[in-house]
Amino acid sequence: MYRAFFYPMRLALLAVGRNFMPMAWWMPASKEPFRFLLAVDRKNHTLSLLRELSEAALAFYPWEERAWVVRAGYLTGRRVRKAERLGVALRPARCLAHTWVPEGALAVFELKVAEWPTDGDHALFMGEVVHVEGSSEAKERPILFLGFRDFATLGERWRFRPGGAKLPLREEP
Ligand SMILES: Cc1cc2nc3c(=O)[nH]c(=O)nc-3n(C[C@H](O)[C@H](O)[C@H](O)COP(=O)(O)O)c2cc1C
Repeated sequence: MYRAFFYPMRLALLAVGRNFMPMAWWMPASKEPFRFLLAVDRKNHTLSLLRELSEAALAFYPWEERAWVVRAGYLTGRRVRKAERLGVALRPARCLAHTWVPEGALAVFELKVAEWPTDGDHALFMGEVVHVEGSSEAKERPILFLGFRDFATLGERWRFRPGGAKLPLREEP
């Protein structure tokens, strides 16, 4: 039944403790309170750490950092120290007690576990934002995951103007 026709998804990095992994299955879930919903595979070490520490940082990196971000998804913190293996410098989270964040992020959302909603083969984790840093530049040059081993960044851009229809509503066939 599963088909990945919904890609691209913006690739994030989920850091918990001193471990981190790339993550495509995340979404903002509430503004007030500010929350994110994350789907974490039960096989991932990150899930054990999340259950143990009840906190995480969801971070976004620019296209230029894609190699180590993606590589972190082919290693497990159960066996290796990813930061050392990938040559990534970590800095402590600002408002979390145990979590370290790889340097170079465009935006970081520090989260505390608010709820564990019902889950399937991925555990759903609802995280409440306790600290944010970043700027609107975080939109520039995102890492987009296309599925399998394919990635892209932004190409075209368009601002919708409700008043003026400058484009035909449908392309002619
Ligand atoms: C592009 C990409 C996207 C991924 N998205 C997710 C995701 O949304 N949820 C998830 O649980 N794992 C995701 N993964 C898989 C984990 O990153 C991977 O299993 C990682 O090795 C887990 O590390 P850990 O065992 O240290 O937690 C993704 C991997 C890649 C390469």
